[in-house]
Amino acid sequence: MSTEKILIIGSQGQIGLELAEALRNNYGHDNVVCADVKDVENPVGPYEKLDAMDRQGMYEVIKKHGVSQVYLLAALLSATAEQKPKLAWDLNMEGLFNVLDAAKEGMIKKVYWPSSIAVFGPTTPRVNTPQYTVMEPNTIYGISKQAGERYCEYYHQKYGVDVRSIRYPGLIGHKSAPGGGTTDYAVHIYHEALKNKSYECFLSEDTTLPMMYMPDALKATIQLMESSADKVKIRSSYNIAGISFSPKEIADEIRKHIPEFSITYKPDFRQAIANCWPGSIDDTRAREDWGWHNDFDLSAMTKDMLDNLK
Ligand code: SER
Repeated sequence: MSTEKILIIGSQGQIGLELAEALRNNYGHDNVVCADVKDVENPVGPYEKLDAMDRQGMYEVIKKHGVSQVYLLAALLSATAEQKPKLAWDLNMEGLFNVLDAAKEGMIKKVYWPSSIAVFGPTTPRVNTPQYTVMEPNTIYGISKQAGERYCEYYHQKYGVDVRSIRYPGLIGHKSAPGGGTTDYAVHIYHEALKNKSYECFLSEDTTLPMMYMPDALKATIQLMESSADKVKIRSSYNIAGISFSPKEIADEIRKHIPEFSITYKPDFRQAIANCWPGSIDDTRAREDWGWHNDFDLSAMTKDMLDNLK
């Protein structure tokens, strides 16, 4: 039995709900404490109501449960952050400072914090975006993630904090709903295809973005956290790649299962965000350093999504 005690902050979000299940399978049900700002009635395991910005509250939860690792997933995503820039900056940064300081002060041993493809911007090369490249994000979300990456690396170099991070692409899963991202269409489209046989997309048909099926994202996250520290050579955040596709391509793939499915396009403010993000990602460093590889392509993901959502 593992001696790790894991705290997931932001456990009720798209990643948190699935990650909690995966970690509970690996580490034991009661060794994973979920925390979120939301009230949860009848939680399935240990649960604490917690605002990531409440430093004292967070430290009390860490001490109460003898937490050794924190996964900090609480954040506002790209689209919501543009509507609430002040809250996005405060939440995305304060939460991280609180967790990094807990590690610096020796309260916890290991930190996971997600970054995003949103750290890149309009001046970044869009095809096979390298690990190290021009980064001039132009969304509040991207700016907070880039600043966060710099803080993670700084805390590692200066204070020896064992912090690990991945730049997630758009994540697609059937167990939980995304909230407030620019890539959310790639989840909604499956639900609507099954329910209504049609979907109105908020991005244009040829907007290619890096995406990933949730089982791959969970595998990457846990694999990175379980790698020996010497293998984790990048302490800002790792590029990882899954599948790159456009709304037109995912619609074509869905039509192989639901021939009558139709899609229309009505780009909104999220189009401008997507236009500044990479189309594909070079993840050589993650592959070399800790053995990452993805399992799902567009066709395998589509089949699995539709089978499970049915
Ligand atoms: N999926 C996220 C978003 O669209 C990217 O990190 O905001």
